[in-house]
Amino acid sequence: MHTDSGLPRPASSLTGLSLLFSLVPLGRSMEVTVPTALNVLNGSDARLACTFNSCYTVNHKQFSLNWTYQECSNCSEEMFLQFRMKIINPKLERFRDRVEFSGNPSKYDVSVMLRNVQLEDEGVYSCYVMNPPDRHRGHGRITLKVLLEEPPERDSTVAVIVGASVGGFLAVVILVLMVVKCVRRKKEQKLSTDDLKTEEEGKTDGEANAEEGAK
Ligand SMILES: *[C@@H]1O[C@H](CO)[C@@H](O)[C@H](O)[C@H]1NC(C)=O
Ligand SMILES: *[C@@H]1O[C@H](CO)[C@@H](O)[C@H](O)[C@H]1NC(C)=O
Ligand SMILES: *[C@@H]1O[C@H](CO)[C@@H](O)[C@H](O)[C@H]1NC(C)=O
Repeated sequence: MHTDSGLPRPASSLTGLSLLFSLVPLGRSMEVTVPTALNVLNGSDARLACTFNSCYTVNHKQFSLNWTYQECSNCSEEMFLQFRMKIINPKLERFRDRVEFSGNPSKYDVSVMLRNVQLEDEGVYSCYVMNPPDRHRGHGRITLKVLLEEPPERDSTVAVIVGASVGGFLAVVILVLMVVKCVRRKKEQKLSTDDLKTEEEGKTDGEANAEEGAK
């Protein structure tokens, strides 16, 4: 009964590899990395970190960024920061001049700082990015909670070490997957360039995407 002792080693690791690659997200949106939940002490400054991955370098003439705030799940999203050729800060009454851009679009970083966080600042913060010629829009959501007192410290040295090594390994895997994905996407876009051209003469496709974003 030692004939079916499992697949020979090379074959089984190949299976594992293709499983990994099939997990490459091929969804229609760009990957945006944000802390999904952020707890901030009342009165301190919150860094709303938002970075993205794109297969293309950022062209400031075409790059588009919107940061919105949504107070409750039924509330409408209020735009409080935008990038269109340059940073535009509409200064909502609720934030006054507490919002400051702290990212660098050329480095795929569109983070903002929210100074002197107040209880009323709780809610959902969204960053939307669009980096043509990549036709997929990215969206990151941060749920901000304001704490009134410092949470108790926990001894987590072991957890940090384990977390860091697992994290480091995952980072390498993700990097590899991103490269593979970009190659695939560029190929995909190249293939559809012909019908894209006719589409854009009619000026329909891009507009539909933008409408979805404004909401
Ligand atoms: C939050 O902090 C501000 C000062 O930054 C203070 O005026 C306010 O009373 C605090 N709110 C609560 C509920 O503790
Ligand atoms: C959202 O709105 C619906 C109806 O418009 C209401 O039934 C629901 O309670 C609201 N939810 C919140 C969290 O306000
Ligand atoms: C940002 O908002 C403007 C108008 O509100 C819209 O035209 C644009 O497509 C939006 N950009 C993104 C990345 O969602």
